[in-house]
Amino acid sequence: MDHKNHAQHRICVVGAGHVGLVSAACFAELGHSVVCTDNDTKKIAALKKIQMPFYEPGLAELVAKNIKKKTLLFSSSLDESILKSDVIFIAVGTPPLADGSADLTSIETVARTIARNLNAYKLVIEKSTVPVQTGQKIKETISRYRKNNIAFDVASNPEFLREGKAVYDSFNPDRIVIGVESKKAERILRELYAPLKTSVIVADINTAEIIKHASNSFLATKISFINAVSRVCDLAGANVETVAHALGLDKRIGKQFLQAGIGYGGFCFPKDLEAFIYISKKIGYDFGILKEVKKVNDEQRTYFIEKVKERLWVLKGKKIAILGLAFKPDTDDMRFAPSIDIINTFLREGAHCVLYDPQAQSEAKMLFKGKRVRFASNVYAAVKECDCLCFLTEWDEFKKIDFKKVKRLLNNPLIADGRNMFEGNALVELGFEYIGIGK
Ligand code: UGA
Repeated sequence: MDHKNHAQHRICVVGAGHVGLVSAACFAELGHSVVCTDNDTKKIAALKKIQMPFYEPGLAELVAKNIKKKTLLFSSSLDESILKSDVIFIAVGTPPLADGSADLTSIETVARTIARNLNAYKLVIEKSTVPVQTGQKIKETISRYRKNNIAFDVASNPEFLREGKAVYDSFNPDRIVIGVESKKAERILRELYAPLKTSVIVADINTAEIIKHASNSFLATKISFINAVSRVCDLAGANVETVAHALGLDKRIGKQFLQAGIGYGGFCFPKDLEAFIYISKKIGYDFGILKEVKKVNDEQRTYFIEKVKERLWVLKGKKIAILGLAFKPDTDDMRFAPSIDIINTFLREGAHCVLYDPQAQSEAKMLFKGKRVRFASNVYAAVKECDCLCFLTEWDEFKKIDFKKVKRLLNNPLIADGRNMFEGNALVELGFEYIGIGK
């Protein structure tokens, strides 16, 4: 990365979760001096030894490289890290509460800690996904708790990186959104990203926050739209993949996020959608479209289960192999994964499940602890003597499967493809019964 001619900043990233850790490593790589903090002391100790808290391709290498160059440090002392920095990114968790709103306790605590340690001008940037108007609250909190009149700015700089492609996305963003209230804050944010050549959208803080809400909600809407179309395709005897391909060639629509299946999961879409519905209602708008998007997404799992039941008739006593547990490929993240509901329903109905995932196995072991599941060490061990094989995550590894071998190992050659990964006809020719979604 060419950063020789760009202004360099002393950055503190608060929170070593997915967004925080990736951002910290990437800002270090862009030439800034970064300290990444977290109140989980074990996590910080592990990071110092280059042990990553989650699986993200390319991240460990980037962290190792920048630790060696001394451009990236890890610390569990937030006070000290704030004192030494001129830019602070808040990237702490905002987990969902029971009513759909986001829990902003951690953000408030960080804002108060910044106020206590305001020893010189600082730019405080929210990077966590937060409800609109959170920036204003951060500003009020710092003003209220600071012990002096030292100036500071608050800005919003939402993150659009995808798990599994986070490092790539960080260096190749489609756009950078900065929500600011002063020219100084805008200048610093532009300097932070100077080596990246991409469009910079400058807005006020509320607008930047809404851009994040709207982006994730629109992508989720696209997925639910194609999933609804897949239901009609099944009823009409049409093929959703061909429909999606033709739709996607229209530049106004675009081809991404039109993959029908068991729906979206993860810690972003489900939570962000709920939060956008909640905050819109709170400020006076009933976001009906998004409620429907969520409903279609929930129904897609039930629909998949019904399709399997239709073929297996009684689930009690049946053995079902599940390949793919993570909410999407290239991550070990199981949060809000569609696989959880599907497996739990199979178990409730009396089936036995054999699970395999290339990366999410340890996460899944914790989640399904004490339940009637068995973990297999590879694809072939998982399918042995099963009555049905379900694909729930489209890992590349599964595309190389020897289906002749799988057919010999299964008790009953039924494949339920929850991600439309395979050509149904080719599997039927090999002697399988094939269930896809909308095809
Ligand atoms: C999403 C957004 O894509 C990022 O831009 C954003 O920064 C991030 O949320 C966030 O707010 O932090 P992510 O949750 O990592 O990123 O994953 P996606 O690649 O967007 O996939 C989300 C879910 O949608 C997955 O379960 C995936 O399987 C599903 N999906 C995606 C479909 O079912 N069909 C599709 O066509 C595409």
